Amino acid sequence: MITWQQLQDKALIRRKDDKTLGMAHSKCSGSDILGKAINKWLPIGGVCLDIGCGLLPKPYYMKVANTVKWHGIDPWDEGIRRNFVFKQGVAEILPYPDDYFNGVCFATSLDHVKDVDESIKEAVRVLKKDGCIFIWSKVWTERQIREWLERGGMWNENHLRGFSLSTMLEYFVGFESIYRNDLGMYQMIFVFKNDKSIKK
Ligand SMILES: C[S@@+](CC[C@H](N)C(=O)[O-])C[C@H]1O[C@@H](n2cnc3c(N)ncnc32)[C@H](O)[C@@H]1O
Repeated sequence: MITWQQLQDKALIRRKDDKTLGMAHSKCSGSDILGKAINKWLPIGGVCLDIGCGLLPKPYYMKVANTVKWHGIDPWDEGIRRNFVFKQGVAEILPYPDDYFNGVCFATSLDHVKDVDESIKEAVRVLKKDGCIFIWSKVWTERQIREWLERGGMWNENHLRGFSLSTMLEYFVGFESIYRNDLGMYQMIFVFKNDKSIKK
């Protein structure tokens, strides 16, 4: 079974000539809708953390969500001069205090992390009570997921895993699901509202 580090290394090699490959560098419906959702549900001047922010100076959804202050974290630094507050690190161990961010977003990154449970636990820890988690992700059919499992594991050439609608929702039991948009082409955007009074 391929490891997370091996996948990350392969992904960086694919990007040796073009760091923007697979990143949200220009207008596409997912990036636009995600940015608008963040503007809508976060307070003006609120602080939003982008987990797995990638290699762009500023992803397009951050340009759209221009009413919030952006922080981003990614395992890759690569000397990119980012136009937001950046830290090198991983979703599973977030170097931020509890109850700090108004919003946390995973923009096509949740299917790349090493441990989804730990990443979501950390996202919730750093999120303020009443904060929102924004997810833009591929969501596959139950059948596609079953077929992957039957092939011996939840991964393909570029991803450690895939989510179906039910597996995605299972991670957020105890959250209020306030928005869901099916963009087609197996892509969805979710907004979950935190409620720390509900025990997960
Ligand atoms: C498809 S890119 C998306 C980048 C950016 N969100 C965008 O849309 O332009 C996925 C990103 O997830 C990052 N990633 C992989 N494992 C991670 C982890 N454990 N914690 C945080 N980010 C991770 C990768 O380094 C990569 O930059």
